[in-house]
Amino acid sequence: MDMTTRLILDCDTGTDDAVAIMAAALHPLLDLVAVTTVNGNVPLANVTENTLRVLDLIGSKAPVYVGASRPMMREDFPIPRGILGGDDPGFHPPYLDIPPSTTPPAAWTAVAFLIDYYLSDAGPDTVLVATGPLTNVALALAAEPRLAARIPRLVLMGGARGWGNVTQSAEFNIWVDPEAAERVMNAGIADVTIVPLDATHSAPISLADCDAFDAIGTPAALASSAFIRHRIVAGRDEPGVETGEVPVHDALCIAYLVHPEVLQEVGEYAVTVETRGHHTLGETVMDARPWSTTPRNAKVALRANAQIFVQFLTDAFRP
Ligand code: RIB
Ligand code: CA
Repeated sequence: MDMTTRLILDCDTGTDDAVAIMAAALHPLLDLVAVTTVNGNVPLANVTENTLRVLDLIGSKAPVYVGASRPMMREDFPIPRGILGGDDPGFHPPYLDIPPSTTPPAAWTAVAFLIDYYLSDAGPDTVLVATGPLTNVALALAAEPRLAARIPRLVLMGGARGWGNVTQSAEFNIWVDPEAAERVMNAGIADVTIVPLDATHSAPISLADCDAFDAIGTPAALASSAFIRHRIVAGRDEPGVETGEVPVHDALCIAYLVHPEVLQEVGEYAVTVETRGHHTLGETVMDARPWSTTPRNAKVALRANAQIFVQFLTDAFRP
């Protein structure tokens, strides 16, 4: 029986997306079909160039399809980073510190690719992983509603049951495009797993782990070590940086595909997204009240196992 998991990764390549891309492209039990890019950590052109740089660095031929440059509804993003504490623009630098890309993106747009792929025979065998704002996924679902029944499984990094990281209520991926996130959560995809900050913050990667990646010595291991060290040094709103460790949010979604046990305290919730709250815009509202009759549309993990996570990355990055 083929144990390989096929996936498409939709991301807003910043440093933790970069680690996720390399793990997805290199782990022996994963088959990275394609990467789609979306505005998020940095503007779309930067996201796309960063994505191409990462794939070129590791010699991956996975195609890159360019997606949405701004949220579906909101006019104000990318907002000046000063509103988000622009005094540390370096947390996600405009360009990753690896050689410029030599491979162009594919000709199709991300939305056209997602629709065509998931309507094809290969679609129902391919997990969709989203580690950025959900704009591309929402637009594809809006343009072709049949996709909700064709995407077999969506794993997304986003949201929080506890405190957020952009505001006290909202996590970045959801906050950037809350209308897109609400549409995705209400689309009727049968198998949705949310990996929120509660899980990613409970499984940080440490400087000692980076030393171990350096000892592996492959391009992916060295680049991941550098990206994670940068997150530790530049991290301002990430817990643990003062103790030399940092969450690598997006890569945890990829680890889950190979080691489902990496996610813990997983429960089923009725999840929706606040799109109008003054103080709570972008909050993932997770209803688990026993008497609630609202359909439970997602599995949510509230913790993760760092040892399994690190071992997964080690297995992906070794020669
Ligand atoms: O809140 C963390 C998430 O926002 C991660 O996916 C990070 O890359 C940013 O997109
Ligand atoms: Ca991301």
